[in-house]
Amino acid sequence: MKNGKYLVGVVGAGGIGRYHIEGWKKLNDVIVFGIADTNASVIETVSKKYEIPVAVRDYKNLIEIEEIDIIDVCTPNSFHYPVTIAALKSGKHVLCEKPLAIKSIHVEKMIQAAKENKRKLMAAQNNRFSYAGKMTKKIIDNGELGEIYFAQCYALRRRELPAADTFIKKELSGGGPMFDIGVHILDIAYWFMGCPKVHSVKGVMFTKLAKNKGITGAWGQWDTEKYEVEDFAAGFVLFKDGRALNLTCSFLSNLPSNWSAYLYGTKAGIIWPEMKLFSELNGMHKDSTLTPIVQENEPSHHIEIKEFLECVKTGKEVLVKPEESLEVIKILEAMYISHEKKREVLF
Ligand SMILES: NC(=O)c1ccc[n+]([C@@H]2O[C@H](COP(=O)([O-])OP(=O)(O)OC[C@H]3O[C@@H](n4cnc5c(N)ncnc54)[C@H](O)[C@@H]3O)[C@@H](O)[C@H]2O)c1
Repeated sequence: MKNGKYLVGVVGAGGIGRYHIEGWKKLNDVIVFGIADTNASVIETVSKKYEIPVAVRDYKNLIEIEEIDIIDVCTPNSFHYPVTIAALKSGKHVLCEKPLAIKSIHVEKMIQAAKENKRKLMAAQNNRFSYAGKMTKKIIDNGELGEIYFAQCYALRRRELPAADTFIKKELSGGGPMFDIGVHILDIAYWFMGCPKVHSVKGVMFTKLAKNKGITGAWGQWDTEKYEVEDFAAGFVLFKDGRALNLTCSFLSNLPSNWSAYLYGTKAGIIWPEMKLFSELNGMHKDSTLTPIVQENEPSHHIEIKEFLECVKTGKEVLVKPEESLEVIKILEAMYISHEKKREVLF
């Protein structure tokens, strides 16, 4: 801390890192004190634009600054683990982008390091902080939908493949759309269902379009020969209590984009994030769309940052518990194992 303000260091100042910096800068009692990025031109541009005093290439030089309270990890997925572990061991609280890590064993070690050093750790699952996310959870917890016995989850992009190495090189990303965007929908649906214990997982992966010569996407051009991850994935999760969830994800597909979770409840169903509610009244269908009375204009990423800081200040439990993220990563990991071995993976 410095002059009563919390000091934040952001590791990885690319697309989402900059968005996080903007979120931190909105908070009166925070100073974005430093950034670390392996790319020299990134640290120069970003530190100048946001007036950040410390800009280094090696994250260890940022973490070793004693006054820094919080490290925000916004690197490609594979660096989440080493950066988070180093930060927690140096006594920093850590907000880390999703997926929390690319291996469940890494998440276990992150949780252990957070406990041993008595520091907060949270995966930046921003959808949980969105208005539709929070309201859907409230509706479910109030019992309005009855029991949610099945969730159908879609993270489908038709021609929106993020063209950077961060997303298409397996050693950096850990996987394709199942890891990159499936993690969002899986996390929120799993949370909506009350984070049940997993019984088994079945997954399939395809790379049918991304390596085609001449294929293009709305988010830039990738090298089709260097593309290493799946471009489409689907999976099924059976929970120990008999409920279930399925998940379909793509960067590229020949069907429309779709970003939603269909929650099947015994009293009513809801489609998140559209907030379309389906029920029955006197033998008739009763369908409605829920809309907020007071508009929430704050982006979910920035609400997440604000609420994480509140947990650091007050000791309150974080909304995305690391143990829940561990189960999510175990499910994703099992999807890839299931695909490779062509069988169901039992938990
Ligand atoms: N929650 C969301 O909505 C959301 C959206 C986009 C990305 N993400 C996540 O954020 C992370 C970064 O994605 P992005 O889109 O910003 O990628 P990006 O490629 O735009 O930025 C990553 C940055 O990290 C830097 N970097 C790479 N290795 C590093 C290291 N070892 N130390 C320090 N810096 C390093 C790169 O130079 C780059 O500037 C990923 O984990 C991704 O899954 C989350």
